[in-house]
Amino acid sequence: MRAVFSLKSTCSIIQFLFLLGSCFLIGCGNSRQSSDTPSGVNQELSSLVQTLQLSGDPSKGRNLPSINDPKAQLGMKLFFTKALSGDKDTACVSCHHPVLGGGDDLSLPIGVDAVDPELLGPGRVHLVSGEHYDGGPTVPRNAPSTFNIALWDQVLFHDGRVESLGKTPLKNGDDGMGIRTPDSAFGEADPLAGQNMVTAQARFPVTSAEEMKNFGLFHGLSNAEVRTNLQQRLGDYGEPAGGFLVTNHWLDEFRAGFDEPQGSAETLITFNNVVDAIASYENSQVFVETPWKSYVEGDDDAISTEAKRGALIFFKSVADGGADCASCHSGDFFTDESFHVIGMPQIGRGKRDGENGTEDFGRFRETKNAADKYAFRTPSLLNVSATGPWGHAGAYTSLRATIVHHLNPQVALDNYDFTQIAPNIQANQMRVNTQKIIDQLNANRAAGLPSLQNVNLNEEQIDWLVEFLMSLTDPCVEDKSCLNQWIPSAEDTNPDTLRLNAMDDSGNYL
Ligand code: HEC
Ligand code: HEC
Repeated sequence: MRAVFSLKSTCSIIQFLFLLGSCFLIGCGNSRQSSDTPSGVNQELSSLVQTLQLSGDPSKGRNLPSINDPKAQLGMKLFFTKALSGDKDTACVSCHHPVLGGGDDLSLPIGVDAVDPELLGPGRVHLVSGEHYDGGPTVPRNAPSTFNIALWDQVLFHDGRVESLGKTPLKNGDDGMGIRTPDSAFGEADPLAGQNMVTAQARFPVTSAEEMKNFGLFHGLSNAEVRTNLQQRLGDYGEPAGGFLVTNHWLDEFRAGFDEPQGSAETLITFNNVVDAIASYENSQVFVETPWKSYVEGDDDAISTEAKRGALIFFKSVADGGADCASCHSGDFFTDESFHVIGMPQIGRGKRDGENGTEDFGRFRETKNAADKYAFRTPSLLNVSATGPWGHAGAYTSLRATIVHHLNPQVALDNYDFTQIAPNIQANQMRVNTQKIIDQLNANRAAGLPSLQNVNLNEEQIDWLVEFLMSLTDPCVEDKSCLNQWIPSAEDTNPDTLRLNAMDDSGNYL
């Protein structure tokens, strides 16, 4: 009604009464003026939600483990043990801690050879004098969240190099059609991928020298050899490189986790079972109870009017006054699981692509299609307020700046605030590399390929978008007491005494 009252004309009262009358007769939902009122915004949004057939719950119809399942409990202990890294200084949790939104709170992760392996988040630094340290953050991409990892049905990783060949909805790759991994050729199933995409993915961090394998005990070993050595190390059998664990109670843990009280180490402590258990733990991290979901389910007061206005901009096309965010961040999981060139800044060492070796060609690395150069997977936006820094290289440390980037990537690059990234990331290189991405975006646009469009929004509209994105976070992920079930407690057994007890740079336990 604000627009009506702001009319200075003498007949505004008459107009107002007329409008009230017509609302009675035809309903306000579709009249242009009424979308300025809270109830008009609400009506417009709820009809949009219906048209888009959103349920608010992307976990519906899936068969997911509970964190209390014995296998998920075993997986939690494996996720937290440094025994799975070559030189026993890194665990999965080093880069994917529940209290850090299922990530590490860093633009680019630091895996092996950290000065203090137990320190996570800001303040975690790499040994500068290490024999194998060659400058800069050593891991080239931002660590995505493990939260809601079970809800992906097509691809994992920023470039989709773990890929369900069937892409059946609700299956996470568990559809009998096979899963492609970096161990198989593009488009071909990896016979060892395991049950679903999450098991397939978990086979790889241990094989990455910068993430977990290190440059010491397992140096020079193939992926298969690393995995064999790890199963022997945990199973206390064979002749693992670097020898056995000093303390080892893993057999009891695997017997309980797989409910095989008589099982032997050789049959139970296999690498396949290691990743099976880790995947159960990860797949139990389902955080979808967002205010937005309550709204979609009918609680009109679950989100603010500002968030609703933001939602309208998010879902509406540019022609209709929106920003068309949902053309890529689509459906209840807020992703099309597809790849787009949007020009997010390329910081860090990259993937050794391009002339200078510091670029990251993204999806092109897998498909070799020219249009996929610099394309990255559309991230889900559930819990996005907790999963920063944002972008495939973590170049943005504010959610607002991440949104603003989308509105005009060239202007965003020109205005990029370098103070937000670590000083050892070269600014000039970043400008050159990112300009190439934006040039590719412009080339795609010129070729008529569906591409990110430039959009004009005012400051208030951007605030609304931020407000909407904030409504996509499950309160549990910001509540340590709620997350505690996904973190081993002092009462939980510590089978090898190598559990990572994470703390922040003030010495507080996470
Ligand atoms: C040194 C930090 C580091 C460690 C340790 C690490 N990860 Fe990651 N993780 C990453 C990064 C970086 C990526 C993204 C890599 C890419 O897309 O190229 C990633 C990706 C993932 C993904 C895919 C997420 C998605 O949205 O597609 C999962 C799942 C995952 N890691 C689980 C694990 C597990 C399980 C372990 C232990 C076995 C582990 N990670 C160890 C940094 C780490
Ligand atoms: C053309 C497809 C497309 C459109 C339209 C789009 N996005 Fe994105 N968005 C992406 C891709 C792809 C990424 C990841 C890019 C990268 O990491 O290099 C991304 C990343 C993001 C991120 C960072 C998420 C993270 O975890 O790092 C946010 C937040 C986001 N988009 C919000 C929005 C909003 C809000 C809009 C509308 C104004 C929007 N997006 C429109 C494709 C799109």
